[in-house]
Amino acid sequence: MKELSGEVFYPSKEVLKNSRVKDWDKLNDFASKDLEGFWDKEAKELKWFSKWDKVLDDSFKPFYKWFTGGKTNIAYNCLDVHLKSQRKNKVALIWEGEKGENRVFSYFALHREVSKFANVLKSLGVVKGDRVTLYLGRVPELLIAMLACARIGAVHSVVYGGFSVEALHERLEDSHSKVLVTADGAFQRGKIVPLKAIADEALQRAASVESVLVIKRTGEPVNMEYGRDIWYHELVSLPIINSKNEAEQVDAEHPLFLLYTSGTTGKPKAILHTHGGYMVQTYSTFKYVFDIQDEDRYWCAADPGWVTGHSYIVYGPLLNGATQLMYEGAPNYPFPNRWWQLVEKYGVTILYTAPTAIRGLMRFGDAWPNRHDLSSLRLLGSVGEPINPEAWKWYYNVIGKGRCPIMDTWWQTETGAFMITPTPVVPLKPGSGTRPFFGIKMDVLDEDGKPVADNEEGYLVVKTPWPSMMRTIYNSPESYVEKYWKKYGGMYLTGDSARRDEDGYFWIIGRTDDVLKVSGYRLGTAEIESALVSHHLVAEAAAIGLPHEVKGNAIYTYVILKAGVEKSEALREELIMHVGHEVGPIARPENVEFVDSLPKTRSGKIMRRLLKAKALGQDPGNISTLED
Ligand code: WT7
Repeated sequence: MKELSGEVFYPSKEVLKNSRVKDWDKLNDFASKDLEGFWDKEAKELKWFSKWDKVLDDSFKPFYKWFTGGKTNIAYNCLDVHLKSQRKNKVALIWEGEKGENRVFSYFALHREVSKFANVLKSLGVVKGDRVTLYLGRVPELLIAMLACARIGAVHSVVYGGFSVEALHERLEDSHSKVLVTADGAFQRGKIVPLKAIADEALQRAASVESVLVIKRTGEPVNMEYGRDIWYHELVSLPIINSKNEAEQVDAEHPLFLLYTSGTTGKPKAILHTHGGYMVQTYSTFKYVFDIQDEDRYWCAADPGWVTGHSYIVYGPLLNGATQLMYEGAPNYPFPNRWWQLVEKYGVTILYTAPTAIRGLMRFGDAWPNRHDLSSLRLLGSVGEPINPEAWKWYYNVIGKGRCPIMDTWWQTETGAFMITPTPVVPLKPGSGTRPFFGIKMDVLDEDGKPVADNEEGYLVVKTPWPSMMRTIYNSPESYVEKYWKKYGGMYLTGDSARRDEDGYFWIIGRTDDVLKVSGYRLGTAEIESALVSHHLVAEAAAIGLPHEVKGNAIYTYVILKAGVEKSEALREELIMHVGHEVGPIARPENVEFVDSLPKTRSGKIMRRLLKAKALGQDPGNISTLED
C-alpha cells in the first residue's frame, strides 16, 4: 500500500499474521468488480432451505430484492445450525445483571429457550407476518423473544426500554401489534423503570394488542389485566408448552423486523428489514470486521433496542457462532470502573461501543481502567457518531494499550449493517471509518450530484444496492422513495454530510437534517416539539441540538405559551418532565426558553438554523427567506 497522508496507525505484525483477510485490496477488488458474485459467495456460507434464483433483483427500483426465490430463516441460522456442529455446547451468551448476578446460555440452551418462547407466542395466536412489540430492559429475554419471533416468521418491533408512554403508543399503533412483550420493570442505576405501568398507559389507546406477556425481572407488584395480561413464566411452564418447534421456512424477502427511527419531519418511521439480505450482510460484516474467532469473547455494550443491538448483539454474533457478553446496566454505575471490571472478569477480547460512552468514561480519568487487567482485549469498535481524535486516542492507548485496532463503523438503522468500516489490517486514521466495506460503493456529491473534490464537504450517498438495505418504510412506501431516493435519482441519500480525503478515506461531518444524536441515541427535533405542544399550556415549540462535550448533542427548546399563561420556573420544569413522560428520559431538553415568537420562513417553517446560530452567538448567515 502507498504511503498515507496525515496521522496513520498501521496494523501490527501480529494483527497481520492472525487476520482472516490479509490482503484487503484483493478481496475489495473482487467485490467491487463482481458485487453479486461477492454476496453470492457470502450467502453460500449460510443455510438455505432452498437456493435463490437471483442474487439481486432490481426490476422494481428502488424496491430492490435480494436472494429472490431463496428460502431460509435467520433464527435457524443463529441457533439450529450450530447444534449440528461442535458449537452445540459452546457458550452463546453470558449475561450479567446490574447487581452482578449472571446467567449463561450455551447454543443448545438458547435454542431451547427460543423454541419455548416461540411456542408461547403461537399459543397466543401469533402467526407468520403478525407484528409483536417488545418493550424490555437489557435482559436475555429480549434477545430470546426477538429470535422467537423470527423463528415463526412473526415481525418484531423492539421499542427501546428508555422510551416512554407516547413513543410506545405510537409504535404499537403504527405497527398494529397483536402482542406486546414487556416486564414488571427494568433496573437502571439502582432504580426501577416501571415498564409495565408505562405500557398500561400506552395500551389504553392501542386497540390492536390482544395479549401482553409479562416477564418477571424486578419482582415489584404490577397491575395485571384479566384476559389480556399473562406472566411469561406461568405460561411457559404449562404442560402444553414444550421445546419442539420447527423454524418456519420463509422467503428471503419475508419481513424480519420493524425498527422505528427518527427522521426530519413528523413521527418516527418504521424501517423494514427482511430475513435473507439482512442475514447475509450482518453475518459477513461481523465476520470480517471483528474477524471473529471461536476463542473470542465479544461484547457490544449497546442496547438491543437500537439497530446496533439488533445487528451486532443478536444476529451478527449468533450467525457466526460467537460467544458474547450482554450487560444490563450503565457504564459508570455504581462506579466508573464497572465496564473495566466486566472486561477483566470475562476476559473480553472485542469491545464495541459508542464515542459518547468513551468520552463519558474518559472524564473519570485513567486510574479507573488502570486498576484492571484489560490485557484480554485485542480489538475495539466505535459506532453512532464521529469519534473525536482525543477520545479515539484515549480508547486506543488507555483501554487498548496501543495494541488494539479501532474499527470505526459507519452505518444506519436504514442500512442494516456496516457500510464504511475498516477490517483489522486496514491502516487507521483517528476519526475516519476509512473506506466502504467490500461490495459497497459510496460517494460524496455536491448539490447537483457531481462528486466533490478531495477533502470538500458534500452529501454522502450509496451508489449501488446492498443486501441489508431497508426494504421500505412500513405503511409509507412513498416516503421511502421521496426521502432516500429522490434527490439523486437512483442513489441512496444517507442524510449525512462527509468528505473524502486523497487516500479515499471517508470522514463523516454530521447530519444534514434535523436528526439529533443525543448520547448516541437518534432523536428528531419534530418528536421533541410535538411532545411539547401536546402539553395543554403550550402553543408552539422549536427544538435544536447544540454541541455537547459528552453527549454529542444537547437538546435546547424554545416555547411559546398559550395567551395569558404565566411563565414560571415551575412550568419550565414541568415541560421538561412532560417530554420525559411522553418520549422518554433521553429526550428531556437541557433547557426550555420561553419566547414570544419563533423565526419562520414565509411558508411557515421554523428556521432552526437561526435559533442555533443565535444560541451559539454565530452569524445567522442568509436570512432572506425569514418572514419577519
Ligand atoms: C446515523 C445513523 C448505526 C448504528 C447506530 C446509529 C451517525 C453512525 C457513525 C460513525 C460517524 C456515525 C450518522 C448516521 N453515525 N455511525 N461511525 N461515524 N457517524 O444508527 O441511530 O440509525 O443513526 O448515526 O449520522 O446517519 P442510527
